[in-house]
Amino acid sequence: MKAKITLAPEFKIGEIDRRIYGSFIEHLGRAVYGGIYEPGHPTADEDGFRRDVIDMINELNVPIVRYPGGNFVSGYNWEDGVGPVDKRPPRLDLAWGVTEPNKFGTDEFMKWCKKAGTSPMMAVNLGTRGPDEARALVEYCNHKSGSKYADMRIANGYKEPWGVKLWCLGNEMDGPWQMGAKTAQEYGRTANEAAKLMKWVDGSIETVLCGSSSRYMNTFGDWEQKTLELAYDNVDYVSLHQYYDNRKGDTASFLAKSLELDEFIYSVICICDFVKAKKRSKKKINLSFDEWNVWYHSNGAPVERWSTAPNQLEDIYNFEDALVVACMLITLMRHADRVKIACLAQLVNVIAPIFTKTGGGAFRQTIFYPFKEMSMHCTGSALKPIIVCDKYDCSDYTDVPYLEAVASYDEEKGEAAIFCVNRSLDENMELDISLLDFEGYSPCAFESMDGYNVLDENTFDNEKVRMHSNSLPVFDGKNGKVNLKPLSFNVIRFKKA
Ligand code: AHR
Repeated sequence: MKAKITLAPEFKIGEIDRRIYGSFIEHLGRAVYGGIYEPGHPTADEDGFRRDVIDMINELNVPIVRYPGGNFVSGYNWEDGVGPVDKRPPRLDLAWGVTEPNKFGTDEFMKWCKKAGTSPMMAVNLGTRGPDEARALVEYCNHKSGSKYADMRIANGYKEPWGVKLWCLGNEMDGPWQMGAKTAQEYGRTANEAAKLMKWVDGSIETVLCGSSSRYMNTFGDWEQKTLELAYDNVDYVSLHQYYDNRKGDTASFLAKSLELDEFIYSVICICDFVKAKKRSKKKINLSFDEWNVWYHSNGAPVERWSTAPNQLEDIYNFEDALVVACMLITLMRHADRVKIACLAQLVNVIAPIFTKTGGGAFRQTIFYPFKEMSMHCTGSALKPIIVCDKYDCSDYTDVPYLEAVASYDEEKGEAAIFCVNRSLDENMELDISLLDFEGYSPCAFESMDGYNVLDENTFDNEKVRMHSNSLPVFDGKNGKVNLKPLSFNVIRFKKA
């Protein structure tokens, strides 16, 4: 099969906000306990933070980490997780049916962020609690001194404020599974008041309004419109969440899920701009896609009720999952002008790119690799290439382009790159590349993830599903050719001489 891609620096979608490479740590399963935090582990530092996990996170270069939930946050009393550890109460976590020991809380997370070279994206509890506790937490984290909660932080041993800039106004408040779930009217009003008070405490923060829990919710669309109308002036982003699965074992449809993702993002942009127009506002609301991934392998696995840090949501990812994650990342990037924040959910053990053994080693799951590749090389501006390729029909979608692609141009680094997936199950794709106005640029690397069985997985002993290098494409200064294997994720990079 033949295809063509044409690229120019002028085909700019928008600047890539690095926060699009964010991730997520929830108090859930072994994400915290046995994941990022495990005192006594051979690699643990003096704070109990696993160094081997931090090293892998550094490879991913994750600029922000959302915390502490997720569903967990909607029943969380943040005060239980600060102060002397031996005085902190264990609590029932009704979201996941387990016991939260509260050995790790806000201050530990802030410390961990510093050591892991990332920044916090905090969520407040607008389920069982409200604006009062939310503003108290902002005061605890960001106010210098001389007030109840700032002085509480200082008494707990942290003189300097943590300076948290980004705040989620609850989590999935439209979902009946959420503690304190709300109607759009109830949530819009609560979120507005919470955001208002939080910003009165610290005028420099940004807030994220909860959008729908997924595009499949019956209230999707209506929820975004109503809540935005109620909270527009006090919020900066609206959130999107989406997970995909291949329960049907239909790879062709699974790989096409990103078409749906594209439409989802586009719809939310339209709603934001509709409310903007209705309000005659000058303010633009951007998107925070703060939960996205493949999730289904672990569903239904039994969990002992009220246990602590059980093996929960521990998906082991395969090769086709990595291709879907690549397609999702490419799609997020194609909306880089409006998607300013995104969080791969989650980071360690719980539906995550990094998997650990409690007391043992850690490995990089298949989905680790496309994320790392894009986080490293898809920087600067996102470019929308002109693509000519064949399309296919499958059971869930029609007209699916075989080639899913986006490009980047980092003028400062003198680099450009194409990121693409060949969705064909069995055909090579001979891709003609045409670079316009890229004077002096030539290929410097061609890496791909291909040649695996769709069900191949990585293990502690063998990270076999990963990127590998290929010989450089033939290139004459402007035009070149490259062969993309069936079922492949490819990164073709160019450098200015
Ligand atoms: O990431 C796992 C869960 O998925 C989160 O707690 C929740 O927000 C979503 O439903």
